[in-house]
Amino acid sequence: MDATQRVALLKAAHAARLQAHAPYSGFRVGAAVLDEAGRIHAGCNVENAAYPQGLCAEAVALGAMVLAGGRSARALLVAGEGPKWVTPCGGCRQKLREFAGGATPVLLADATDVRQTFTLDELLPHSFGPAHLEPR
Ligand code: THU
Repeated sequence: MDATQRVALLKAAHAARLQAHAPYSGFRVGAAVLDEAGRIHAGCNVENAAYPQGLCAEAVALGAMVLAGGRSARALLVAGEGPKWVTPCGGCRQKLREFAGGATPVLLADATDVRQTFTLDELLPHSFGPAHLEPR
């Protein structure tokens, strides 16, 4: 990920956040993932009246990547609103692990800018991934 891609990820996540369907929490989140071809795929949280059925922004962004033919996440950025930077929930860390190795950068932003960067390994150490199912 270069500096231009980093800016593009932030812009995409912020734009996606504005599309969030978050009438229950009132907390809008945007995410953007960079794939192996350098393309960016964005997602927003999509809540549901049956609360547990809601989707996180990261899950929606990863789904958009898969739909577009992307198979590897080279970086993921998540942006919340307000002064606190957002960090992916446990389930989204595992969802990202399906498409990313431990060294993949995860950029955490508030409504203005990126405030922290971790590797996926830092967020999800000793993780279970696709390789654990080989050989079957
Ligand atoms: N949320 C995300 O979309 N991503 C995160 O990383 C944290 C939480 C959403 C889920 C729910 O719609 C709202 O934020 C409040 O938890």
